Amino acid sequence: MTDCVVRCENIHKSFLMGKEAVQALRGVSLEVMRGEIVCLMGPSGSGKTTLLNILGGLEEPSRGHVIVDGENVVALSEDRLSELRLVKMGFVFQNYNLLANFTALENVEVPMALAGVPRRTRRRKAESLLESVGLADRAQHYPSELSGGQQQRVAIARALANDPPILIGDEITGDLDSVTGFEVMEIVARLNREQGTTVIYVTHDPRMAKFATRLIQLRDGIIVEE
Ligand SMILES: Nc1ncnc2c1ncn2[C@@H]1O[C@H](COP(=O)(O)OP(=O)(O)O)[C@@H](O)[C@H]1O
Ligand SMILES: [Mg+2]
Repeated sequence: MTDCVVRCENIHKSFLMGKEAVQALRGVSLEVMRGEIVCLMGPSGSGKTTLLNILGGLEEPSRGHVIVDGENVVALSEDRLSELRLVKMGFVFQNYNLLANFTALENVEVPMALAGVPRRTRRRKAESLLESVGLADRAQHYPSELSGGQQQRVAIARALANDPPILIGDEITGDLDSVTGFEVMEIVARLNREQGTTVIYVTHDPRMAKFATRLIQLRDGIIVEE
């Protein structure tokens, strides 16, 4: 088994805006090793979200390869890709994206239900995940009854439900005050330490970048600095 969990080669991505092509990525190559915490930084519009989405198989590159845990993501069928995303990658977004009509516990159970984990097992696992993010006493709360920081911790628990080797986060502390943001990043760093989860995240906050073992700067769709 290789220690490289995510590799991309010469990724290009352009979007068509009316008749004009916007070049979001212009040849990005990157290798992420198991256990790394990689932070992507760069000005707004530099391609950070696009790169995360492509690494996570949410979007297809116009050109280039993406290999996740040995699998060529670009070549996969939609079904295989969904399966791969479900077990290999956990996603956390700036706006939490929790299901409003589901409790915290149920939200954490969703990815396990999709992966066919039996009800009892997933309930127990969801409880222990909520406990690990410090929310054991909020399991029956709905997202609207939780603070931003608590919702983001539920989102992290949900992202980790199927024990993915990779956690991908896009501005996950962007809507949080700095103390709460710090707490959220500390949870991510602890999961990395304890479970070896590889983390790739975007932030524009230098204080949040301190959690990274590696810092990558993106500008105008290319990596300008490591
Ligand atoms: N779906 C889209 N359609 C058209 N243009 C897009 C789309 N997504 C991103 N872009 C453009 O690609 C560039 C990079 O965007 P993005 O990856 O969101 O940057 P960042 O996350 O660094 O702010 C920007 O110029 C943006 O306007
Ligand atoms: Mg972005």
